[in-house]
Amino acid sequence: MAGREVHRASCPRREARETAILGYSLDLKVFLKDESQQLGRSVKGRVAYAMAKRSRESGRQIVESSSGNLALGLGYWCRKLGAAEPLCLIDECCEESMLGALSEVGCIIEVVPLTRREQQEQSGVFKRISRAKNYAERGYYWPNQYDCPDWIRVHQETTGPEIWRDSRTYDVVAGAVGTGATMSGVALAQPAGGRTRLVAVEPNGSTIFSKQPGAYRVAGAGNPFTPQNYRRELMDSEVTIEDSASFGAARSLRAAGLAIGSSGAMAVVGALRAVKGLGGEVKRALVIVADDGWYEPI
Ligand SMILES: Cc1ncc(COP(=O)(O)O)c(C=O)c1O
Repeated sequence: MAGREVHRASCPRREARETAILGYSLDLKVFLKDESQQLGRSVKGRVAYAMAKRSRESGRQIVESSSGNLALGLGYWCRKLGAAEPLCLIDECCEESMLGALSEVGCIIEVVPLTRREQQEQSGVFKRISRAKNYAERGYYWPNQYDCPDWIRVHQETTGPEIWRDSRTYDVVAGAVGTGATMSGVALAQPAGGRTRLVAVEPNGSTIFSKQPGAYRVAGAGNPFTPQNYRRELMDSEVTIEDSASFGAARSLRAAGLAIGSSGAMAVVGALRAVKGLGGEVKRALVIVADDGWYEPI
């Protein structure tokens, strides 16, 4: 799937108007890699397929902690491949529309309650991981999306090559980071000698690579810790974006006819901001858009 062109900046007339979508004036073309087209409705469909396959082969039922998209992919693929229905640990802030979709695809949902503090610090994920570990001790198959190199490999073998085989070449590839598997796999797949710079983006308040913990609303991206699947050393730039900019960009892009979720919009803003700091000529950026945000109030 090749990238979709979003806008050109600093070009005359029509292109200049398009640039105004996000209010930047850079001599840069931004392309979107639209992962909402994946089966399972997001970039997580890729790893969900591999996990569901393993569940079917081993005959063990999956348990996994998810903010929604991975669970949706797991429900879809487990049903499709004939694996047991996955047990999905979801935090109580999950949107109703997402919970409804998870039931429809056959997920068994365990909603994990959050204290006020956990809500503020976005730290409910620790509770979900600890529950997943308990289930794993009782025989469930826990893929552990945060810490298992197999999920990096999925992106190294699929997402990455799709980008690097593209007939266009990119100066920058940017993407939101949650577990880090997408960006790590894409970075590892870059052919030796490749000069494309990798830009990792997280929401302000997430501490994957930033220091200041806090609340944020961007869905699917960010974490209150650095997952093992995020390979920092492979990135050229790490950018933190505040919610107001991410949601503002998502709304502007929607108004321009591009339905992308808050995490994809955050990654677009991250790419635009990173360009200045990267130095050298940056003419084309590819942004990995994890989903279209169908479940989010944007
Ligand atoms: C909306 C959204 N953005 C970004 C990501 C981050 O992907 P990764 O976990 O590979 O870093 C995810 C993953 O679930 C997601 O659902």
